[in-house]
Amino acid sequence: MPREIITIQAGQCGNSIASQFWQHLCLEHGISRDGNLEDFATEGNDRKDVFFYQSDDTRYVPRAILVDLEPRVLNSIQSGPYKNIYNPENFFLGEQGSGAGNNWAAGYAAGDRVQEEIFDMIDREADGSDSLEGFMLLHSIAGGTGSGLGSYLLERMNDRFPKKIIQTYSVFPDTITTDVVVNPYNSLLSLRRLTQNADSVVVLDNGALTRIAADRLHVQEPSFQQVNQLVSTVMSASTTTLRYPGYMHNDLVGIIASLIPTPRCHFLTTAYTPFTGDNIDQAKTVRKTTVLEVMRRLLQPKNRMVSITPSKSSCYISILNIIQGEADPTDVHKSLLRIRERRMANFIPWGPASIQVALTKKSPYLQNTHRVSGLMLANHTSVATLFRRVVVQYEKMRKRNAYLEQYKKEAPFSDGLGEFDEAKEVVSGLIAEYEAAEREDYLDPEGGTGQGT
Ligand code: GTP
Ligand code: MG
Repeated sequence: MPREIITIQAGQCGNSIASQFWQHLCLEHGISRDGNLEDFATEGNDRKDVFFYQSDDTRYVPRAILVDLEPRVLNSIQSGPYKNIYNPENFFLGEQGSGAGNNWAAGYAAGDRVQEEIFDMIDREADGSDSLEGFMLLHSIAGGTGSGLGSYLLERMNDRFPKKIIQTYSVFPDTITTDVVVNPYNSLLSLRRLTQNADSVVVLDNGALTRIAADRLHVQEPSFQQVNQLVSTVMSASTTTLRYPGYMHNDLVGIIASLIPTPRCHFLTTAYTPFTGDNIDQAKTVRKTTVLEVMRRLLQPKNRMVSITPSKSSCYISILNIIQGEADPTDVHKSLLRIRERRMANFIPWGPASIQVALTKKSPYLQNTHRVSGLMLANHTSVATLFRRVVVQYEKMRKRNAYLEQYKKEAPFSDGLGEFDEAKEVVSGLIAEYEAAEREDYLDPEGGTGQGT
């Protein structure tokens, strides 16, 4: 029985990363640009039906709903090389077509007007699956549509599908070269929903992604297209255990259960090594890749796709390494021992040092340039550094009353700025939760923040 996942991609960033993700999945599963299976791919025992369904004429169609309030990115998808794989009924373009202008509140307010149409699509997809496992929301938290309308959808999805898993891939803004001045407002307001309405959030950070892409490609300012290649590699690696199932981690629930022991600390960071791909060929390494080498590199800060600064007390709550390629299980065991002996990773004081390893198959249709590659999904308390940064920047802007007028014009702020205060409270609570998780007494009834269990 497939455990289907419906993808909702919102705004420019959400749709751009999703478009590369779908291309990547098509290549991995041998699905051609018109949705038909390639001749060489008819024997596969992969599970395409988690992310695709088959139409009457047996073409594979992504279980994807494409949402935006401005036409540019959706138009480019509809005229791009993979235009024919999508269900044309699953494109939602907002009425005025002018976007939410980098304003969370405008995106959220649009939610009220457009939700019926979007939920018709979501319900249709949900009805079309046998045993729906949940949803993936792809978006950025810094703009207006992905963040504001995305937040609105997260809340409603939670009400409407209380038993389904909601996972997001959320792109955090680059805080050094900020392209959206009001990103701290939008990020704070979105973070509240990511805290309260998602089961798991994969944190992608444009700052770190840009740095990694620049390093690999030897360019100063990588394009979104180049950055999104990293994102799509991470997304496809993090879903391999669902698409090429083994006996563990073969559904989202399993992955989340192994990584998230307490529900609030559900923000996951990623690391990947080594990168290959069309534009990343220069990164090809000459040395032989081994499991230990891959697992060691996954723990190095430079391969982490978030800009966080671990402190002395910060630690891993859990790690799941998804290793692809020619990996020998005994190598894995040895590598784990080595990592423990050398104390390469610091773990929480209130639970076991949980490093799990999933060995998965690789697509037989893509050429492997490395013997072994790996993705680390990690639950690390230093992710709170990102949230702290958002709160600090928010407070600076709020103190100066900067840019508040454009928010006050929108419905969520018609009764005052309470929405900001509530969001700040939730995010501060989240930061406190991660601080508590670094202490030994986190799970004690009087320890922690009382939210952990
Ligand atoms: P509005 O346009 O304001 O209605 O909302 P939107 O959701 O379309 O905004 P957008 O997705 O453009 O959000 C802006 C943030 O996303 C900024 O931090 C951008 O740097 C980032 N961003 C936009 N496009 C991409 C992309 O293709 N890849 C990556 N990694 N980040 C992107
Ligand atoms: Mg936009």
